[in-house]
Amino acid sequence: MLHIKSSVPSSKIFSSSSKIEKILTFAAMEIVVSGIRSTGNLHLGNYYGAIQNFVKMQHEYNCFFFIADLHSLTTHPTPASLHTNVKSVLIEYLAAGIDPEKATIYVQSDVPEIAELYLYLNMNAYLGELERSTSFKDKVRANPENVNAGLLTYPVLMAADILIHKATKVPVGKDQEQHLEMARTFGNRFNRLYNNEYFPEPYAFNFSSNLVKIPGLDGKGKMGKSEGEGNAIFLGDAPEVIRKKVMRAVTDSGPTVENQQKPDEIQNLFDLMKVVSTQDTYDHFNNLYNTCQVRYGDLKKQLAEDMIIATAPIRDRINAIAADTDYLSKVAKMGAEKARESASRTISDVREIIGFRSF
Ligand code: TRP
Repeated sequence: MLHIKSSVPSSKIFSSSSKIEKILTFAAMEIVVSGIRSTGNLHLGNYYGAIQNFVKMQHEYNCFFFIADLHSLTTHPTPASLHTNVKSVLIEYLAAGIDPEKATIYVQSDVPEIAELYLYLNMNAYLGELERSTSFKDKVRANPENVNAGLLTYPVLMAADILIHKATKVPVGKDQEQHLEMARTFGNRFNRLYNNEYFPEPYAFNFSSNLVKIPGLDGKGKMGKSEGEGNAIFLGDAPEVIRKKVMRAVTDSGPTVENQQKPDEIQNLFDLMKVVSTQDTYDHFNNLYNTCQVRYGDLKKQLAEDMIIATAPIRDRINAIAADTDYLSKVAKMGAEKARESASRTISDVREIIGFRSF
């Protein structure tokens, strides 16, 4: 059994004398929702670009972080791979510092109320606007043989994810702006149709101003899991794997003029160094570069070692948590319970608003 505070059984968590206090504090806090698709392991880009922020937010907001496994069905995963992916994201969220007692961390498919709200919202989402979504068009272009209705209505499901908790703050990257705008549209349309102000408007949320962009190792854009094996450093990568990937990173033939501007692939390595290395190390290699004395082999060796050090605590926790299935199932159950508490409140209001009445 892990000695993590959060392994307290869910039934005990709110049963202390501070129950009322906790409920009152939660009620006053703004609601944050964010999801990560369960389509692979978390990498440094996810960590420094998003999760580190989630970890800070959980102390100041009523946070719901979920694993978007329903969304992942658009690409038809096998049952075994679906479960493995959900589990590894859960493990990695926890290992990265999301505290299941502070934030509500849950698996999307454990909360059927989301699917119900998705159905209602679908009745007022129009073909034209869904077809105009940039991410839909991108996906159609990438996989013309798999244009299913789930793909088309992806933004409706995402709106349901957010509106189900009546969230106002959604920490997501720039690429999700349009989806958020659609979530506001669907919420407002529901409000107008039923002549009430039920759903608040959700907006993108940058908790900290120093959100860093983490470049990949292929010399091009940002770190991503779809850009090829060697481009991303995963939080669970073993030290040898990190060394191998970094040593293979794209470089050029070296600077020829003092203080010359760095080409993208070199700037990327320095940007990564800025995140994982000390300022001294960064300055040292920057000076070598600026005086045309840099040896990329040395720079990469240093970068790899610093990445190994930076990720070590998370890697250790990934291994410990992965081995503790009791803890994992407790966390998932507790998260589902807390998420359903909030979701079922919304669904019963929505049913009432729509006009469903029991006999
Ligand atoms: N669409 C998001 C992505 O691709 C994931 C996501 C699904 C999400 N539902 C969400 C993010 C709700 C924030 C809120 O990254």
